[in-house]
Amino acid sequence: MQILQDKKIVLGISGGIAAYKIPELVRRLKDQGADVRVVMTEGAKAFITPLTLQAVSGNGVADSLLDTQAELAMGHIELAKWADLIIIAPATADIIARITAGLANDLLTTLCLATDAPIALAPAMNQQMWHAIATQANVATLNERGYHLWGPGSGEQACGDIGLGRMLEVSELVNLSSDFFADKYLQGQHWVITAGPTREAIDPVRYISNHSSGKMGYAIAHAALRAGADVTLISGPVAISAPIGSKLISVISAKEMHHQALIYAKKCTTFVACAAVADYRVANIAEQKIKKTNDVMQLELVKNHDIVADVASLADKPFIIGFAAETENVEHYARGKLMRKNLDLIAANDVAKSGQGFNSDNNALTLFSAIDKTEIALANKQIIAQKLVSLINQHYLAKQS
Ligand code: C5P
Repeated sequence: MQILQDKKIVLGISGGIAAYKIPELVRRLKDQGADVRVVMTEGAKAFITPLTLQAVSGNGVADSLLDTQAELAMGHIELAKWADLIIIAPATADIIARITAGLANDLLTTLCLATDAPIALAPAMNQQMWHAIATQANVATLNERGYHLWGPGSGEQACGDIGLGRMLEVSELVNLSSDFFADKYLQGQHWVITAGPTREAIDPVRYISNHSSGKMGYAIAHAALRAGADVTLISGPVAISAPIGSKLISVISAKEMHHQALIYAKKCTTFVACAAVADYRVANIAEQKIKKTNDVMQLELVKNHDIVADVASLADKPFIIGFAAETENVEHYARGKLMRKNLDLIAANDVAKSGQGFNSDNNALTLFSAIDKTEIALANKQIIAQKLVSLINQHYLAKQS
């Protein structure tokens, strides 16, 4: 069953240029099974017509508090009670201010006062307006009151400015909606996940690294967040964005990752070591760019600390999962690492197989504990991550009991 199946969503549109993206959002939410009813402010109608939204939602669009016909069909109190979730997208500085002040001077603000459904805001405004003291104070107040802030994102704005204030992309809003309704079975847990490669400097312009894209670690972070965990992502340099809601700690070298991991591991319930940490670093990093004067050049390398093994030797250690990327004898090597590094679980993948593992969107894993093994069949890394997170939690709970 789709996660938004039969979920009742009131989609409030206020008057910002990003309103032109909302018909697509309505369609994507409906594709996932949601029943969507659109409410528009007067300002929203300057950007997009109620007729368009009626056509895509398949429901009448409400835009007035004092409309006798609309009140007869589904009155505003009825609509406020009907909703499982209210999403306001785009949420302008004005509607954010009016909601914070508790005004009820149009249908959308009245609904916000009259509902006990959760309310998510997808802010969209000029970056200066977003950073304005008044807006920031309003957003902080709404945060405290339990409103959900979905965004804003950063980038080029309709007015030509660049900065924070863009409405999140439609696909991100759909993901957040489906995450919202997902089972929060990790509530109260704090996961720390290492991800991506590390870079070991040779000189100011060169480094040694590997092909890790960070996709698997980031997918695990997303799956853990979706299940309600607090997530800290300690990541080497990658080209992808951290999942919304995670705390990102960006590092470059194995040494930095080691330092941060040992700080955060002390505060977490679960530690997932997904990073492809460089095994060695350059013994003496050149202060200046090395010149190509010699035909042969030798680098002396020294071994990096093993991050996950050091976390596993903490007195008050969390539940620990390592990864083993192998090209042969997968089970043998994975079980060896599980024992040697003193881990609770190890997720092994065969990186010699094409179409999975490093840099790919897909993966297949085998999860080993000291006593059993579970296969997670080839699938998209998001799906693999959701299955893996659920399995990790089952082992974690078994260990607690
Ligand atoms: O020994 P190997 O590098 O194959 O072990 C892989 C596991 O150990 C992964 O979980 C990886 O994140 C972790 N690791 C680490 N620090 C290192 C090397 C590996 O945390 N220096």
